[in-house]
Amino acid sequence: MLKTLFKRSSAEKPIIEDQNIPRHVAIIMDGNGRWAKRRGMPRSMGHRAGADVLKQIVIGADEIGIKALTVYGFSTENWKRPEQEVSFLMSLIKEYLQNNVSYMHEHNVRIRFIGHIHGLSEELQEIIAESEELTANNTGLTLQLAINYGGRDEIVRAMRKMVESVKSGTLQSDDITESYVSEQLFTKEFSDVDLLIRPSSDYRISNFLLWQLAYAEFWFTSLHWPEFTKETLLEAVAAYQKRERRFGGLQEE
Ligand code: IPE
Ligand code: IPE
Ligand code: MG
Repeated sequence: MLKTLFKRSSAEKPIIEDQNIPRHVAIIMDGNGRWAKRRGMPRSMGHRAGADVLKQIVIGADEIGIKALTVYGFSTENWKRPEQEVSFLMSLIKEYLQNNVSYMHEHNVRIRFIGHIHGLSEELQEIIAESEELTANNTGLTLQLAINYGGRDEIVRAMRKMVESVKSGTLQSDDITESYVSEQLFTKEFSDVDLLIRPSSDYRISNFLLWQLAYAEFWFTSLHWPEFTKETLLEAVAAYQKRERRFGGLQEE
């Protein structure tokens, strides 16, 4: 199974090694609107096509041996979009969870949500809680869905919590270390990102995982998210495996 996955269909040479698989991969699922516009379709069609892609990427990531996949679905800044688009996206998220969570569950995927979930509708919050509960004990890939997520918002919320703990005397300022801060974030279980993927030819972070991306490797593609396939993911992982990560140190001799 793995053997065929690691090979390009037309070539014998494996494109990724089963060693050095990134543990935590993050994807900014971007370019749905441009994909639709190019086809003369409304942006909503692009969002729908983008949602359809996610399932196979989750399964592909699990097959490769990635432990955590964090995907950016809706940012704290995306509320600035026209109301019609925002409400379409909210109903799409709901519909997506209703239609796909049991499939993910059958594939042993654990679903978690990161972001300011309390800022979403009650109905969506309930579906989110149910999805997390249903899949809580799954041992395969952890899918972290970033909805109403902002990297700065996450850090501000963590800071407020820490200040409250200092005020109540349960936390000393010396206890605030880098690992303590990591544990206060939504991503506490899978913090540092190994590989960040952004499709659609934009080369920016857009407020995603600001703390967690400190030493991530970045990979960009001109493909729009609805065009992204398992092969694209393999390509990104293959590129990652060629990188030399130094974390501020020196190259190993
Ligand atoms: C990403 O696609 C989905 C969301 C931000 C919700 P976009 O809607 O940003 O698509 P483009 O970037 O306009 O093409
Ligand atoms: C980032 O994309 C957010 C998501 C993909 C959910 P945007 O389309 O919102 O980012 P900008 O505005 O191009 O930076
Ligand atoms: Mg965009």
